[in-house]
Amino acid sequence: MFDLVPLADMPAGEVESLLDAAFGTDRHGRTAYRVRAGMRAIPELSFAAVEGGTLVGSIQCWPVALACDDGSRVPMVMVGPVAVSPARQNVGIGRALMWKAIEVAQPRGEPLMLIGDPEYYAQFGFDAEATGQWRLPGPFEQRRLLARDRAPDRAGMVGPR
Ligand SMILES: CC(C)(COP(=O)(O)OP(=O)(O)OC[C@H]1O[C@@H](n2cnc3c(N)ncnc32)[C@H](O)[C@@H]1OP(=O)(O)O)[C@@H](O)C(=O)NCCC(=O)NCCS
Repeated sequence: MFDLVPLADMPAGEVESLLDAAFGTDRHGRTAYRVRAGMRAIPELSFAAVEGGTLVGSIQCWPVALACDDGSRVPMVMVGPVAVSPARQNVGIGRALMWKAIEVAQPRGEPLMLIGDPEYYAQFGFDAEATGQWRLPGPFEQRRLLARDRAPDRAGMVGPR
């Protein structure tokens, strides 16, 4: 069985190795990384899954905002990367990390968003219904731009707060 602990408890190098194993070492060019450039993850919304002392999964969340074309600004929480060690995938670690982050984020009252496969993230209440007019600082598939918690259905750019 695995335990969920604050990600800050794990050595940063181990987390980076896990992300390389899950997403490949070319992951830094992805649009999600461009959105988060220069940001610091929210420590209380970032967790590690640890099994027998070994890091087997991680989730990070980031303070972003939708800068709306009408001049308003909506703070949101960007979830990801969610990563599970290839040897330990499909045993519920990703699901546990996601529900933990959602549960702890909920009282903030800020919509959660992410870029990911709707086939996986629909189970956590994410869909692309509100995101049709959102823009990101790089290429993305609109069907993979997902949100929940009454995210703003407005035109705008996702970026730092
Ligand atoms: C995606 C990821 C976080 C899921 O975590 P996990 O601990 O392996 O998955 P869970 O145990 O919570 O869930 C497993 C279920 O999700 C399904 N699943 C996993 N990834 C999926 C995806 N990208 N799309 C659809 N379903 C997916 C599995 O088939 C499995 O289905 P089942 O329960 O019907 O057998 C993990 O596999 C991972 O890190 N993958 C590499 C990175 C990646 O590809 N991320 C893509 C998401 S953006």
